[in-house]
Amino acid sequence: MLVIASDHGGAELKEAVKKCLEGRGIVCRDFGTFGDDSVDYPDFGVRVGMAVSRKETAQGILICGTGIGMSIVANKFPGVRAALVHDEFTARMAKEHNDANVLVLGGRVLAADLACRLVSIWLDTDFAGGRHQKRLDKIALLEKKLSRG
Ligand code: RB5
Repeated sequence: MLVIASDHGGAELKEAVKKCLEGRGIVCRDFGTFGDDSVDYPDFGVRVGMAVSRKETAQGILICGTGIGMSIVANKFPGVRAALVHDEFTARMAKEHNDANVLVLGGRVLAADLACRLVSIWLDTDFAGGRHQKRLDKIALLEKKLSRG
């Protein structure tokens, strides 16, 4: 199961991405928004960030106009590694090097076919581990230290 959410700037692309996921037999839970009414991206980003951080689901997708706001929100959550990707290379690296558990897309940046390709690359790529795991461990340690205040 995968969770997905967007603001109004990403709602149209979210529908396209959901279709691609359905085509791959992937069930996704849509946390909104639905339609074009202007909403605040943190209100929707928080739903995916929370679900992934609490390990209710392993992976999520967030979409806003640029993807920038959603990245900022999602990366506030412990254990969330949200990556904003724009092309095939960054989509592959997001998983291979960063083990990104939230993929972030720009609804006003990407055409639907490219966005679906990027989602597929992210889903199909394996985390390389090794030296990259050591780096993720450092991020996890940092999160722990910062949460102690
Ligand atoms: C909404 O107009 C826009 O600011 C939002 O979708 C996003 O791009 C923020 O980063």
